[in-house]
Amino acid sequence: MTTTTTIDLKSLIQQEMPELIAIRHDLHAHPELGYQENRTNGVIRRELEQMGVEYVGDLAGGTGVLGHLPGQHDHATALRADIDALPIVEQTGAVYASQHEGVMHACGHDGHTTILVGAARVLSKIARDARLPRPVSFIFQPAEEGGAGGKRMVEEGCLNGSRLGPSVESIFGLHGWPHLPLGQVSTRPGPMLAAADMFELRIRGTGCHAAYPHVGHDPIVAGAAVVSAAQQIASRNVGPLDSVVVSITQFHAGTTHNIIPEEVLLTGTVRTLSPETQQLAQERLHEIATNIAAAHGCEAHLDYHVGYPVTRNDPKAVQTFEEIARPVMGADNVVPMEHPVMGGEDFSFYGQAVPACFFALGLIPDGQTSMPDLHQPTFDFNDDALAIGIELFCRLAMRPVA
Ligand code: NI
Repeated sequence: MTTTTTIDLKSLIQQEMPELIAIRHDLHAHPELGYQENRTNGVIRRELEQMGVEYVGDLAGGTGVLGHLPGQHDHATALRADIDALPIVEQTGAVYASQHEGVMHACGHDGHTTILVGAARVLSKIARDARLPRPVSFIFQPAEEGGAGGKRMVEEGCLNGSRLGPSVESIFGLHGWPHLPLGQVSTRPGPMLAAADMFELRIRGTGCHAAYPHVGHDPIVAGAAVVSAAQQIASRNVGPLDSVVVSITQFHAGTTHNIIPEEVLLTGTVRTLSPETQQLAQERLHEIATNIAAAHGCEAHLDYHVGYPVTRNDPKAVQTFEEIARPVMGADNVVPMEHPVMGGEDFSFYGQAVPACFFALGLIPDGQTSMPDLHQPTFDFNDDALAIGIELFCRLAMRPVA
């Protein structure tokens, strides 16, 4: 009798690898921005159809896909991949480099998509001979890069059982990690990635001749004072053991050398690890901008956009992941992540709804100590990491029901 415990998973995965690597390269060559992933959506649908995996293929604006495999337990385990690319001109020189000028898979979501397709291929084959212990939900979501596609997938019923399959009781997701060697994985309980907010600040003064500044109100001097004072949110408002980043990333003003302009525009980002600190940073930024502008005879208008929440891992889901990963990877290669990192992820929205574990999948090739970072034009996912991601996803999906 075939049971899910006697299956040689590694060899099943290896049989799929040549085709899966070809799929990864095809996705890499045809990257699409958030909510425009129509071709990618077509590849995912084609794959699920060939496997006989039931799916809803037009979620979250049309490009999100929810696949489903039945199993014995009442509740499903969900596996998630993001499928979108970035507006970057690729410089990898790969033979399968982007054919879409100015768009690139610089965050490795081509790898994530391929890993989830691979897990669906292997699990659907196993499910032909032996009923899976748990139903599995495959979540292919659009628009991770700023479009909050994950939020829409949750809102449209991917976790609560209203779309396809039963409700989800735990979810797992991964990100290729260019700071970790191939063959290692890393995660942590609690906050793993930051809340990522952004803002636009306009400071309006009174323009005048640069030779007679006393007759105007200079918004550049006011803006410069705001930039300096905003650094004190981290150094003087938030405790030294808590974390906050306030970065001002644009400062636009003026037209020429002898005119003091009417207005300056500043933009930036705020990263935090708790709702309290997020609220505090927003309030302080508002107070600093308003009052410093007023002291300069100017007026400030802050547009603050609350972005992705903190990506918070459920301690029990992390424990489940680590227990599955240790025998697969070797105990030393399941590396505790010491600190959260201040990047953001919309996997956080799933974690607000159900117990979740997000983990980092090592990508640095053997024999190297570093590789290009995420969002760099020379970044490329490591094909050797695909099989590891697929095996971990499959074992998480097939873990026995306690
Ligand atoms: Ni990413």
